[in-house]
Parts: sequence; structure tokens; C-alpha cells
Amino acid sequence: MEFKVLDKSHWHDAVDLLVLTYRSDGLGELLSQIDHELGGAIQNLHSEGVLSGKVNESMLIHTLGQFPAKQLLLIGQGCAPLRANDLRSVAGIAVKEAKRVRAKSMAIAPFQVDSSVTHHSFSQALVEGVILGAYRFKGYSTAEQVTDVLQSVNLLLESPTDQHACGVRCGTAYADGTILARDLMNTPGNKMTPTNLAHAARDIAERHGFLLEVLERSDMERFGMGALLAVAQGSVELPKMIVLKYSGNPQSDDVLAYVGKGITFDTGGISLKSADGMDDMKMDMGGAAAVLGAMEAVGRLKPSVNIVAVVAATENMPSGSAYKPGDVLTAMGGKTIEVLNTDAEGRLVLADAVGYAKHLGATHIIDLATLTGAVVVALGSITTAAMTNSDTFLSTFLDAAKRTGEKVWQLPTFDEYKKFIKSDIADVKNLGSGGAGSITAGLFIEKFVGDTPWIHLDIAGTAWTKEDLDFTPKGASGVMVRTLAQYAKQYGKR
Ligand code: BES
Ligand code: ZN
Ligand code: ZN
Repeated sequence: MEFKVLDKSHWHDAVDLLVLTYRSDGLGELLSQIDHELGGAIQNLHSEGVLSGKVNESMLIHTLGQFPAKQLLLIGQGCAPLRANDLRSVAGIAVKEAKRVRAKSMAIAPFQVDSSVTHHSFSQALVEGVILGAYRFKGYSTAEQVTDVLQSVNLLLESPTDQHACGVRCGTAYADGTILARDLMNTPGNKMTPTNLAHAARDIAERHGFLLEVLERSDMERFGMGALLAVAQGSVELPKMIVLKYSGNPQSDDVLAYVGKGITFDTGGISLKSADGMDDMKMDMGGAAAVLGAMEAVGRLKPSVNIVAVVAATENMPSGSAYKPGDVLTAMGGKTIEVLNTDAEGRLVLADAVGYAKHLGATHIIDLATLTGAVVVALGSITTAAMTNSDTFLSTFLDAAKRTGEKVWQLPTFDEYKKFIKSDIADVKNLGSGGAGSITAGLFIEKFVGDTPWIHLDIAGTAWTKEDLDFTPKGASGVMVRTLAQYAKQYGKR
């Protein structure tokens, strides 16, 4: 898909679909002008309340040869100016309609944008909305697939600047990284094994010149990664600790680690999950997918920061060789863990993954995991939960999240919670005993992080959606890819 930023005089260009927004209190200058050419019918619809202007109400109008654009798509924007996330929604709705009517070319001209939207974020948001809204997982149906025909998208604005062009580049990288993550997550467990996840990482490394390191079982034994090895021991699929290294600022000793939970299928192990909805657990490598998607964006944009991506990949299976409740494990670094539930496997593999990130010299760690069902209860599918041992670190991350429009909310780490993961026979247990399941899971990981500034993101609720949203189809959302990429960019500018 090719994006162009053009000044709004191009509304008169011949395109298959011209997309305009209008408010409940008026059509705006451009749409009024177009309406004038079409004889005033749109103004009538607005006056009669057929076009009420309600947010994301939409109407497709054929111009029947009366106007250069073949069809107009009018999208309501309520009574407020559009903010960046509204632009993503408008673009997402628009591209879905463009696909439905099989438009080859589309132009988007939003009306009245909020003053918080910079030139850069204007084009970035529209590009993201288009690419993310157009996404569909290819799947495996043998029936003939409908191919997409949309080739060009023109963004019409007051007057194009370099910043607009830059926003297109950023938006394309962020969105392509996000759809890479979606593809990895939507791929079923029999096809997205730890080995295949390592292959996906290899492809990213080759595309962008990253160093790739994949630890095998024997390497994990050498490093004493007893927690990851225990989770993996019930599966015939070989576990992989996958590492990508990007050196964007060789002068600096800072190393930012993006660490992802990569459970390619979570049955729960011996503490087996119920059958209902278990198929969704192919998405339990959502943290890994977010990390790899972010690295794709980083590879495109090359921010001046050093990043190591660490993905702990394995299946969690029940079998004669599986680890069991009651087992005691020794993680990298020597801490001992009492296993009370084999379904709380994410924190175990992350214990070794953050251990390895530290071994690689990480000075700042962000881990991402589809970690707990409890976070789905707490925040639903809207907001990602964050925990930290450094409020200053988290505040810079929240700033990045604000810019991408991805919602993140902090959970507390009060000392009083820590007693709930104390074990009678080991340094820590993998099951919290006092409620607050997401907090105790995060605090478990903190035990292995130590003093290194750290942010934990529980994306169990946000990584997967059961309904189609404006720019997120149901299934994998690719959440946090854009924020991780944005954070890398901001870190490079410090
Ligand atoms: N992968 C799950 C968490 C999950 C739940 C992800 C729902 C996505 C949607 C995780 O490994 C798990 O099973 N957690 C248990 C922990 C419990 C046994 C302490 C949970 O949340 O029930
Ligand atoms: Zn589990
Ligand atoms: Zn899991």
C-alpha cells in the first residue's frame, strides 16, 4: 500500500473512495464545498438528522459520475475535534469500507483535528489506522482467498511538511511491527512452536542486521535455567531462549531489555486447564510476539539506543515427564522456587529470561507477558497492567504509551503483598496466596530482577480481543508493539 501526503486541494482528484468526517454541528468547509457540487443533498441529510454526526456513524454515497471521486464515505466525529486515536478509528473504519467496496484508491480528509495532534502524529495515526484496520489473518482455508486491491491512500491536509512524511514512515513501521506480532499470535500452536518462533526471530535479524542468539536445552543447562527447563520438560517441542541484539548507540553502556513470555501453547501442564476456551492459549506467546514486533519497527527506524530482546519460548504440556506441583526448581542465579501450580508457568520462564537479560548487561528491563487471568478480571481487554520498581522509569514509559494511545495503568507493589509469595521450603513460591493474582505474579518476577530498573506489563487481557474493533480485528491485537517502539525512539532522544 502506498501512502502520500497531499494538500487538501487534491480533494478533486479522481479516487475510488473519498473519506470525510463531519461533526454533529456542521459539515465543515471541505464537505460543504463538495456538497455544493452535488447539489446540497448532504446538507439536507444533516439538517434532517439522518446524518446526526454521532461518533463513527458512517454513510457511503455513490456520486454517480457527478464528482471525481466515485464514492464518498462520511464518518461522524461527534462534536469534538479529533484526537490521534480518533484518527486511527476513522482510518480503520474507512479502510474496512474501502476493502468491502473493492476500492483501489482512497483519500482521507479528516475535519477539525485537535491541537494536541502534531503534523507527525496526524499522518502517523492515519497510516496506523489504515494498516491495522486492513489487517486480516490469512488462515488456512483452502477456499479461494479474496485478494486486497487497495493500492494507494492519500492523506489530505492543510499543507504537507517533512514532519508529515516522517509520520508516515513511523506509522508504517509501527503498524507493520504490530501486524507481524498479530500473525505470530494468531498462528496456531502446532505451527508456531518454539522452533518456529526462533525462525521468525531469525528472519527479523536477517532483515535488519541484528545479532541472533538461540540458546538450546544444553545451553540452558549450562546457565542453570532450571525454571524454563522445568516448564519445557513435559513437551516434545524443544525450548528456545531467543535473543536479538540491536546496537543503536555503541557509545552508551545503557542496554534496554525487552523480555517476552513465549509459551507457544499453555495447557496448564499437570494443573491442567479446563477444555473450554483452551484453544485461545495459542496466544500465550503474546509477550514474545510484542517484543519481536517491536524489534521489526526498531529495525526499520533505527533509534539510537541499545536493545536486547529476550524471548523464553516453550510449550507447557502435561506428560509423564512434566514438572509437578510440589517440585522445587533452581532458576538462573541460584534462587529456589516451589511450584504450587504448573499453570503459573509464565513467571517461571520469565525468571530465567530476566536472569539472562541481566547476564547480557541489561540496565533497564521491560517484560511483557500474557501472565494472569486476574488481570482480565481487573482491567478487561482495554488496559494493560504495569508494575515497576522505579516510578521514574515507568513515568517515561507511560509518556510513550500516551503518544501511541495504548492504555496502561499501574498496579501497586506494596511490601505487604510480598508475604503472599513466601514459601516454607524455598526462596519463593509460584502461586500467590492472598488474592491480587496479577500483583503477586509481578512481584514474583521482581524477585529475579533485583535492583535493575524494571517494568512489568501484563497483557493477558489486552493482547487478544473477542470482538472486531475499529482498527483491531478479533484475535491478536499486537498490543504494546507501538509503545515499545515509541519508547525506544524516545529513549534514543534523551
Ligand atoms: N497464560 C495464562 C494466563 C492467561 C489467562 C492468559 C487468560 C490469557 C488469558 C497463565 O499462564 C495462567 O494460566 N495463569 C494462571 C495463574 C494461576 C494458576 C496462579 C491464571 O491466571 O489462572
Ligand atoms: Zn498457565
Ligand atoms: Zn501461560
